[in-house]
Amino acid sequence: MAKEIKTIGILTSGGDAPGMNAAIRAVVRKAIANGVKVKGIKKGYQGLLNEEIIDMEARSVSDIIQKGGTILGTARCSEFRTEEGQKKGAQICKKHGIDGLVVVGGDGSYRGAQALSQHGINTIGLPGTIDLDISCTDYTIGFDTAVNTAMQAIDKVRDTSSSHERCSIIEVMGRNAGYIALWCGVANGAEDILLPEKYDFNEQQIINNIIKNRKRGKTHHLIINAEGIGHSTSMARRIEAATGIETRATILGYMQRGGSPTCKDRYWASIMGSYAADILCEGKTNRVVAMKNGSIVDFDIEEALAMEKSIDEYQYQVARILSM
Ligand code: ADP
Ligand code: F6P
Repeated sequence: MAKEIKTIGILTSGGDAPGMNAAIRAVVRKAIANGVKVKGIKKGYQGLLNEEIIDMEARSVSDIIQKGGTILGTARCSEFRTEEGQKKGAQICKKHGIDGLVVVGGDGSYRGAQALSQHGINTIGLPGTIDLDISCTDYTIGFDTAVNTAMQAIDKVRDTSSSHERCSIIEVMGRNAGYIALWCGVANGAEDILLPEKYDFNEQQIINNIIKNRKRGKTHHLIINAEGIGHSTSMARRIEAATGIETRATILGYMQRGGSPTCKDRYWASIMGSYAADILCEGKTNRVVAMKNGSIVDFDIEEALAMEKSIDEYQYQVARILSM
């Protein structure tokens, strides 16, 4: 029989993402509506180990749906990767009467949730990352806001790039995943898109492309470079030397992680957060909430972590062809 859930906890972990607050609000209020108490754990697994735990009421999450970041704070915690840290975390949950926990984060955070579940604390993961790099889900909380923020910034760079007839390399976030770069590449009409999953480090091909496009009458050349490839400033220097065309690098950086969430991020964070609270209150554990083909579903964490996701080849090729 599923264990009775009287109190649940919620924490946000890994990189913050816009919409995490909407998810916190939804978890807190849906759990309360289900007759379950809620505790907020500050600063991810680090805060759990430091027992930074607060009571949360419906009013604790007032006025946060529109705010970027996470009101609970977040952290990366190496101690929680150890068996000892995980055991300690589970003991602290038990000490505070926390029967179940919602963890908002990425794959790494899911592994922590899986460990807690093995130590007797029911856990549910929610996909929170701007990178869209969680295999089991078509949507992650924060991606829509981040990609719109990046797109708007790139439009601005495009204006000045065209006016000066320059080449611009714009570096977007994504250490291991090129989804922000791909989406901006298409949405900003970039001439080149460099993704960690695809780039073959053939800089000569980019140089040839710039020269060809200049001859075709293009006034600018936008290269969207993912953080995982990096080195945008030195790349700009080499391209300028090889083409004779002024080339500038812009690294968008952390501004992509902040800001008020879009409607889409608020909407799905609210729906997914409610769903997480419901299945946790029903006694489910070791599950992650995901979006598949437009519906909200849940998977076993082990199964979710074993899934693979790759950049769609057709979408990548479209991006290249449309910039002709
Ligand atoms: P994300 O959740 O966005 O993938 P990280 O990979 O940095 O971000 O993971 C966030 C946190 O989750 C880590 O700082 C750590 O505390 C915890 N974590 C990551 N990997 C593991 C693991 N293998 N076992 C237990 N906890 C982990
Ligand atoms: O996971 C989101 C992300 O912003 C990645 O795109 C980036 O590589 C990483 O987090 C940066 O993490 P940190 O906040 O530790 O610098």
